[in-house]
Amino acid sequence: MRITYNFATALVGFLSIASYASAAIEDYNRLNISEAAVLFIDHQVGLFNLVQDTSPDSFKNTILAVGDTAKFFDLKVVLTTSREDGPNGPMMPELKAKFPNAPYVARPGQINAWDDPEFVKAVEATGKKQLIISGIVTDVCVTFVSLSAKAAGYEVFVVTDASGTFNEAIRDASWLRMEAGGIQLMNWFAVACELARDWRMDLEGLANLFGSHMPNYKAFMDGYNGAVASAKK
Ligand SMILES: *[C@@H]1O[C@H](CO)[C@@H](O)[C@H](O)[C@H]1NC(C)=O
Repeated sequence: MRITYNFATALVGFLSIASYASAAIEDYNRLNISEAAVLFIDHQVGLFNLVQDTSPDSFKNTILAVGDTAKFFDLKVVLTTSREDGPNGPMMPELKAKFPNAPYVARPGQINAWDDPEFVKAVEATGKKQLIISGIVTDVCVTFVSLSAKAAGYEVFVVTDASGTFNEAIRDASWLRMEAGGIQLMNWFAVACELARDWRMDLEGLANLFGSHMPNYKAFMDGYNGAVASAKK
């Protein structure tokens, strides 16, 4: 009896590991240029001051890098702010200036952007099923809208380094909550590479995109170009 029980337990354990493994493989659901849209949530200058889990220069650079990535791949973009007439402040001017023609939803009060029908309509109008999301703060503005979009049937990819919050403990708890909700957490560079798929799609364009936001990448390209130029002399 006891042997049977142990065998059954082991079998159930084995099967659940096996099904977990196969589910994990199916879950490698890649970003696709023709299916993705980018949502910028509450990148407002007042809220920017609350972000302490990264440095201001690297944070701002990464937000703009996501903007340039959206432009490079010609992805649809939706911008939103919450209570921009109050202390949250206006959207980062450099980000807003990148997308003068993108839908811009200034929410009157909804903390979760998905609670604003105008925002949901703007997302639906993109016609895309994959949403690349970043924002301030990670635990509230980003997590809430991401979980709601996922529940509404979208595939959600959160750009971790273009989102920020009060401290690392809060950030990590938010990441765990989103991950448990089936949201993919990715850094900006990985988002750009997964969209690109292959260097041959535009070698120079990709190198310029990376070089313009990663000083070490720029140095690496400049070193290579210098070596090529001197070899030709
Ligand atoms: C991206 O999605 C389109 C349309 O759904 C599909 O035809 C295409 O094969 C996908 N591209 C890649 C690289 O998977």
